[in-house]
Amino acid sequence: MKDNQILLALESSCDDTSLAIFQWTQLLALRTHTQLLEHQETRWVVPESAARLHADNIFPLLEKVLQDANMQLTQLDYIACTFEPWLVPSLLVTKSVAKVLSSRLGIPLLPIHHIEGHLFALLLGRSLKEIDFPLLAMTVSWGHNEIYLWRSLYHFERVAFTRDDSAGEAFDKVSKMLGLPFPGGPHIARYAQAYRERPGTWSLPSFPLPKFHLHDGIGEFSFSWLKSAVKREIDLRLAKNGGLNETDRCEIAYAFEEIVTQYLSGALYTMAEYYWEVESLWLCGGVSANDRLREVIVSDKRYAKYKRLTVPLEKRFSLDNAAMIGMRAYYTQESQLEE
Ligand code: KG4
Ligand code: ZN
Repeated sequence: MKDNQILLALESSCDDTSLAIFQWTQLLALRTHTQLLEHQETRWVVPESAARLHADNIFPLLEKVLQDANMQLTQLDYIACTFEPWLVPSLLVTKSVAKVLSSRLGIPLLPIHHIEGHLFALLLGRSLKEIDFPLLAMTVSWGHNEIYLWRSLYHFERVAFTRDDSAGEAFDKVSKMLGLPFPGGPHIARYAQAYRERPGTWSLPSFPLPKFHLHDGIGEFSFSWLKSAVKREIDLRLAKNGGLNETDRCEIAYAFEEIVTQYLSGALYTMAEYYWEVESLWLCGGVSANDRLREVIVSDKRYAKYKRLTVPLEKRFSLDNAAMIGMRAYYTQESQLEE
């Protein structure tokens, strides 16, 4: 890709419709519509409703992002779009738009893998010189919870995955059980913080911290146990008091956030110790926006062995966004030129 070429990136794998415009590696504009209000009733993403909303939002967003970047459609040189994985109806919307634009404008379409996008969010606002390979990357979101050993720019392999749910899914389910809005992560974090800030008499539930499994270099997460433990605690309190009050919410949110963050951090260090060549740590995906998770990782005594924990430069780069898709697309092109 030449340094004056323009790329449009599209992402709609779940409930965010996101479009970005790049000139080479320079992000010119990013617009994201998050279907926050629309999913409050179910407090969950229903794939078909999400797809309908993407279809409603994509063209107004396209106009806005072009305006922000001061560009015309005809100036585009490349289109990049998330092709997989996640909600098929959602993915189909941007895929179809990307295919039509690419064929009408006669420009290449680059299909991008969503999780690789999260990995390459590392390079949003950073130069390659700032990256210390090999690094261990944890992607932790609603749809995925994985760890990658990222040896050099074009070489990464998945070394841990989840057997059932992800941490983000657990945040959202616990939030729903507590009667809090969707998506749950930021609300759980807010209630946990309220607990920390209010000294008093609390009765904290104690959720078990399971062992993270590692066999032959491959790690396995599991989160369903935690959702069940929270449900049991809520059922006990409901049976005793007939409802949940703000104190219950603070206590449960705090205890839950502590266990999830310790579990994730412990898993990251278990994998980093196994892959002894790792020099640096990278945390990405929606749950990487969680301040407590960042704090737990860097306050572990094992942290001293690594150069740094890198997190997305802006919180909007943690969540699903088209800028990470554009960045992945740029490096996909570059790697093909090098081969
Ligand atoms: O990466 P993302 O936008 O979507 C997927 O690719 O799945 O992540 C969304 C997830 C949601 O589950 C949301 O609750 C969680 O990220 N999340 C958080 C925080 N902000 C978003 N979880 C914990 N703490 C946060 N501050
Ligand atoms: Zn994601």
